[in-house]
Amino acid sequence: MDRDAAKQAAAEAVVHLVEDGMCLGLGSGSTTAYALEVLGRRIQDEGLDVRGVPTSFATERRARAHGISLTSLDDDSTLDLALDGADEVDDAFRLIKGGGGAHSREKVVAHQAERFAVLVDPTKEVDRLGTEVPVPVEVLPMAATPVMRTVEETGATPTLRTADAKDGPVVTDQGLWIIDAQFPSGISGPADLDHVLNEHPGVLDHGLFLDMATDVFTGHPDGTVDHRSAL
Ligand code: A5P
Repeated sequence: MDRDAAKQAAAEAVVHLVEDGMCLGLGSGSTTAYALEVLGRRIQDEGLDVRGVPTSFATERRARAHGISLTSLDDDSTLDLALDGADEVDDAFRLIKGGGGAHSREKVVAHQAERFAVLVDPTKEVDRLGTEVPVPVEVLPMAATPVMRTVEETGATPTLRTADAKDGPVVTDQGLWIIDAQFPSGISGPADLDHVLNEHPGVLDHGLFLDMATDVFTGHPDGTVDHRSAL
């Protein structure tokens, strides 16, 4: 499958939701990167006047490169629309995010948005969350071991995230670490897991996004897009 073509198609479709004067949440990841490019083109071609809150250093840099004005939740605490990718999405619009480690800021930004549109390629659509990808949990370094024990108690295998290009743990934009919780056969109770992780001291946030997405745009390699909306 040509996933890049599918991401591009989803990006073209989702950016149609953007209207002049809007304040946006700008998600992170490779699919959102296509949307930032399309948005930058509309700003240049149509003189669209929009501003966005970035969810990562990477998105901040991409947005600047595409001529998208930036703002913050201090100046704009209510957003008209947040755009973001996902690692998995199920039929109930529940998501796993954070493959790029940006899920904590992404959740804050999505929470402040009146509409939260997710753009994916078809490989991200699943019947059950967590079968293929882990749930990322962002933690204070000194809480890593207790959180890993709790993750084990939920039935998952915890792994401290590292990267080939770095010696030691991956450090997030907040200076924290990520524990990836991989479930052997998916997540049986997403709401229970959400509760357990939210309650654990030392957890900043995790990659389960429940009851947040309002729209899902699934792009296909032939350029067609399926749009599902809860609005
Ligand atoms: C960033 O941490 C993530 O939440 C991304 O939004 C998610 O991993 C999707 O990324 P891709 O669009 O690169 O697959």
